[in-house]
Amino acid sequence: MDFKRGINIGDHFEVNPPLGVPFENPIGADYFDSICSLGFDHVRLPVRWSAHTDDAHGYAIDKPFFSMVRNTVDKFLAKGLTVILNVHHFTEAADDPRANYDKLAAIWEQLGTRFCGYSDRLVFELLNEPHNCDPDELNDVYARLTALIRRTNPTRKILIGGVSSSSIASFKTLVPPTGDGNIIATFHYYNPFYFTHQGAHWASLDHIHGVRWNGTDEEIAAVRRDISVALAWRERFGIPLNLGEFGAYGKYAAMEDRAKWARTVRTACEEAGISWTYWEYNRGFGIRDGQSDRYFKPLTDALLG
Ligand code: BGC
Repeated sequence: MDFKRGINIGDHFEVNPPLGVPFENPIGADYFDSICSLGFDHVRLPVRWSAHTDDAHGYAIDKPFFSMVRNTVDKFLAKGLTVILNVHHFTEAADDPRANYDKLAAIWEQLGTRFCGYSDRLVFELLNEPHNCDPDELNDVYARLTALIRRTNPTRKILIGGVSSSSIASFKTLVPPTGDGNIIATFHYYNPFYFTHQGAHWASLDHIHGVRWNGTDEEIAAVRRDISVALAWRERFGIPLNLGEFGAYGKYAAMEDRAKWARTVRTACEEAGISWTYWEYNRGFGIRDGQSDRYFKPLTDALLG
């Protein structure tokens, strides 16, 4: 099992519909072939399991929701793609993983059991973007979850990402579980943040626009310097790296700049032997226009050309 170039299927299973609105599977029937024929070898499937559990009954995952996700996993696997399945937007656990351990563990216990025996092209990612939590507690929670998953999935690859939303800075404190040869460290890269998130209301940057990224020597050197922090961590722990999210929001950022930036980050990763997973397929940061369904060629060229 080896994966190198992938795409996030963002804004689907991690979206929590308003109370009373049934969750519908918005994954397009054509995604499977399209993603495969573009040349990606993996997808990351963000899932908000925590919004689909019965907390009064052992945090049991809602059966129809689980089936929907599993069918999607099955279809991607059937195309020969690797699938990174995560726990996304479990905000309480991302803020305080130890206090929310029971629910997090119950989710992983169920996923471990139900995906036991699956192809090794299914990869688990324990928790998307832990935020402000205590790094030692996070490391401890990762070790416990890994041990729990190992009962049913002894060799499945497991991704872990550090605090501060798995930014480069998280490598200061991330310590992998000891004695497990199937851990991969993941990080997210959105620097410079005012460029990649200009206009992003969820980052309170609605008012920021017109920030350019020109691909100057200085800008490229900054990206490479950042990536070298991840490489130093890999050197220390001997654990492979995945860049699980990177991308620039298309509301205001110029397509030309987004493509240059994506190419720079992708190239730096490939040269360093880091697998990458672009954020995202066909929403705000996407390589595909959600309205017309056409691909943005500058972006697909930057990533796959
Ligand atoms: C979040 C998305 C967001 C993206 C970029 C992801 O982790 O789930 O909602 O668009 O990061 O900020």
